[in-house]
Amino acid sequence: MTSANPLREGLEQERVPDASCLVIFGASGDLTQRKLIPALYSLASEGLLPAGQTIVGYARPEFTDEAFRAAMREACDAHARTRPVDDAVWENFARGLFYVSGEFTERDGYVRLREKLAECDRTRGTGGRRIYYLAVPPQFFPTVSTILGAEGMVHDPETPGPFTRVIIEKPFGRDLQTAEDLNRVAVGTFRERQIFRIDHYLGKETVQNLLVFRFSNGIFESFWNRQYVDHVQLTVAESIGVEKRGGYFETAGITRDIIQNHMLQLLSLVAMEPPVAFEANAVRDEKVKVLRALREFPGGHEGDLAVRGQYTEGSVLGDHAAAYRSEERVDSQSRTETFAALKVFIDNWRWADVPFYLRAGKRLPKRVTDISIHFRQAPFPLFSRTMRTHSNVLAIRIQPDEGISLKFDSKLPGPTVRTAPVTMEFRYATSFGAEPPEAYERLLLETMLGDSTLFARRDEVETAWAWLDPLLKSWESSGTGPHPYAAGTWGPDAAEELLARDGRHWRRP
Ligand code: BG6
Repeated sequence: MTSANPLREGLEQERVPDASCLVIFGASGDLTQRKLIPALYSLASEGLLPAGQTIVGYARPEFTDEAFRAAMREACDAHARTRPVDDAVWENFARGLFYVSGEFTERDGYVRLREKLAECDRTRGTGGRRIYYLAVPPQFFPTVSTILGAEGMVHDPETPGPFTRVIIEKPFGRDLQTAEDLNRVAVGTFRERQIFRIDHYLGKETVQNLLVFRFSNGIFESFWNRQYVDHVQLTVAESIGVEKRGGYFETAGITRDIIQNHMLQLLSLVAMEPPVAFEANAVRDEKVKVLRALREFPGGHEGDLAVRGQYTEGSVLGDHAAAYRSEERVDSQSRTETFAALKVFIDNWRWADVPFYLRAGKRLPKRVTDISIHFRQAPFPLFSRTMRTHSNVLAIRIQPDEGISLKFDSKLPGPTVRTAPVTMEFRYATSFGAEPPEAYERLLLETMLGDSTLFARRDEVETAWAWLDPLLKSWESSGTGPHPYAAGTWGPDAAEELLARDGRHWRRP
């Protein structure tokens, strides 16, 4: 019998977590309302949450449980993937929603929280199992984790008993030093296997499908290497600007915001060796090897391999867009990059001298995340010496219109042999009849199950920073700033030149 939703059926059959108390620190914030509670509700509506699963919000504002539930219902009405919200599902879900008001820095609040959790263990069967979601600004992370430890709210997995896990949101530092400091604090209270560092790109269905595509099919691995691949392109383009996050973005820039985490995760998945098992450490061991093999930026010559840009006034999708420097809480002389393009090499046996071109930017013409593998041309122009042959391109569309396509040359109909590129396509929505679930749904479920395959390990984070730090420092100390590009274009000309110098051009996804 075929299943209507094979992905969901797999999860239901094999993997039902035990009910736990999921505590959200920062429950009054944007992430909770836009992503976390809607994702949890969607899991409930798909029947993937265990009976008794409990969610406790913790933040400074005073709310009763009832007021918190009402606010979360509004959040789901606005943001849940599975809408309209079903009243019966909601009623059941809301019975497991509670709220405790308290400061991140004061122990009284944690004492009240501990009492609430103990009560939930009695009434909802959560058995002392705890997941702490730190949706808090990074400066609060040390305090929250230290107080949790001091209040006896963290169970050491080395001794028998219920699990404690902690979920940490990015940014994991802003350079190697701060990332190491954060990690040191984390392992002061938790063991590495209790720590779930979220990179929401890993929760995207199509990102996970990269592994299935590569390693569940016999044919692709045979040409997934320097012998057949000419180069690889990765694009994370956004049409939005920095919106209300100008203050944060000023201290980050696109390289820290997108490349250090999301794009290096994509790059590792594309370039990694097959893991010995589909298991957290086996997969992450292979990913971190890719990061370790990234060629260092040559001191003083970064410009040959890296371009940064900043958007000026323009028009995106028909609407006027202000310059980055006029955004809220952005310095009018800012030199923060809102676009970056890098040419990267992975110095290992498989990829030696194959360029990987990465670009990420805000205020580009559209939102698209796309990976394309460009194959070497046929060795000899058999059909016509004068007619151009095209490279075969395998394009993996992460979002939107999720899918995979392969471009190849075909004979044009007619008595003469003329060729033209055509495309063979797999579209996620057509094949599976549904939009893929939200990344946070999958990641929250994986945390409840205790599987950290889709989370960043300490050495991944630190290796990524160690590689990027010299580039970021060189940009900071350089006398020049980013190249301007008009909002609504594909970045500065220098980004085109980065490929043109190699006789290549960016794919227009
Ligand atoms: C976040 C970045 O991690 O990812 C944002 O901080 C960015 O700046 C977002 O907009 C993009 O995520 P997605 O899922 O929309 O591609």
